[in-house]
Amino acid sequence: MSAEDEYTAEPFVPERGGLPALRRAAADCRGCPLHRDATQTVFGEGDADARVMLVGEQPGDQEDRQGKPFVGPAGKLLDRALAEAGIDPAEAYVTNAVKHFKFTRAEPRKRRIHKAPSLREMTACGPWLAAELAVVEPELIVVLGATAGKALLGSSFRVTQVRGSVLEEEIHGRRERLVPTVHPSSVLRADDREAAYRGLVSDLETAARILS
Ligand code: URA
Ligand code: SF4
Repeated sequence: MSAEDEYTAEPFVPERGGLPALRRAAADCRGCPLHRDATQTVFGEGDADARVMLVGEQPGDQEDRQGKPFVGPAGKLLDRALAEAGIDPAEAYVTNAVKHFKFTRAEPRKRRIHKAPSLREMTACGPWLAAELAVVEPELIVVLGATAGKALLGSSFRVTQVRGSVLEEEIHGRRERLVPTVHPSSVLRADDREAAYRGLVSDLETAARILS
């Protein structure tokens, strides 16, 4: 086994202390190489008693600078879609499958371009998401896109096949209810943005019905 196979956040995750202890410890995580180039750990945000947990991929450029999830363009779109579907963003716990921003630069000092996390990085970061789920115990998980889906449900997850449906799966020993949908940044990239946005809102309405 090579050293790279051993990437994991596991030794950094505290066993008690709730979300504040998790957040403090995650700030010093060295579980995989992504901490090296990123500005800071972007941990989840929201109440420990939130009824719904939204899981994205990883922080983007803005999130990396501000230290909070979904504060950039994708987050603005997500907030709008949540409000339209009838889910109060303030009542949700929002987090990502991977807690550090991964990026490339076309040239030195140029704009940072988002790069998808590898399966190894997703697996390494998994203990943080598992710890968040154990504390928050949400009634429902909204899975935002393929990376979150693979992190929670395994590499065979295909968002196009299951979006908008209600799944029940055993995750880290707990029976979880999940509604998968597309990632909000895929809406920003879509040729027909309006149709893609309506699709996102429609999936979130399914989630809202479960919570009502
Ligand atoms: N995209 C994500 O998946 N998460 C964020 O926090 C921001 C953009
Ligand atoms: Fe730790 Fe996750 Fe950051 Fe890797 S991406 S260093 S596992 S917090």
